[in-house]
Amino acid sequence: MAKERTLIIIKPDAFEKGATGKILDRFISEGFKILAMKLFRFTEEKAKGFYIVHKERPFYKELVEFMSSGPVVACVLEGEDAIRRVREIIGPTDSEEARRIAPNSIRALFGTDKGKNAIHASDSPESAQYEISFIFSQLEIVEDV
Ligand code: RTP
Ligand code: MG
Repeated sequence: MAKERTLIIIKPDAFEKGATGKILDRFISEGFKILAMKLFRFTEEKAKGFYIVHKERPFYKELVEFMSSGPVVACVLEGEDAIRRVREIIGPTDSEEARRIAPNSIRALFGTDKGKNAIHASDSPESAQYEISFIFSQLEIVEDV
């Protein structure tokens, strides 16, 4: 398996509860390299663009409002099989389900429910490429760590 890059976003709920350091530490201790990092707040317009794949879903409006409700921290992570492994570490979308079936996952530890679920991670090579370039310019990504 080749090295891959993926994007994570520590969502407003997890940032607000002070979980950012613990979440970053988890990825570092799992062997991922952080190639880029940014603290910012989404406007509703930018959140809509970021989650454009979900524009027809019933939860789109709620998702956009939540993602723009406070600061977030986005990172580019690099590692072997990173997209799949990071998704495994974050756990299922619903934080309650995560507590049942993946109790050590990030959503089990820091999420509340299906909407407020602490963290985002890219789910495919195509979404990773779209999401990384949506948030970061080339100069903001360190190539030689
Ligand atoms: P993410 O994209 O944030 O990593 O989450 P995911 O792949 O596990 O889940 P996805 O289906 O892509 O949904 C994106 C985000 O929308 C919110 N959501 N709310 N209320 C609901 O039924 C519902 N379903 C999804 C969550 O914040 C979810 O992470
Ligand atoms: Mg998703």
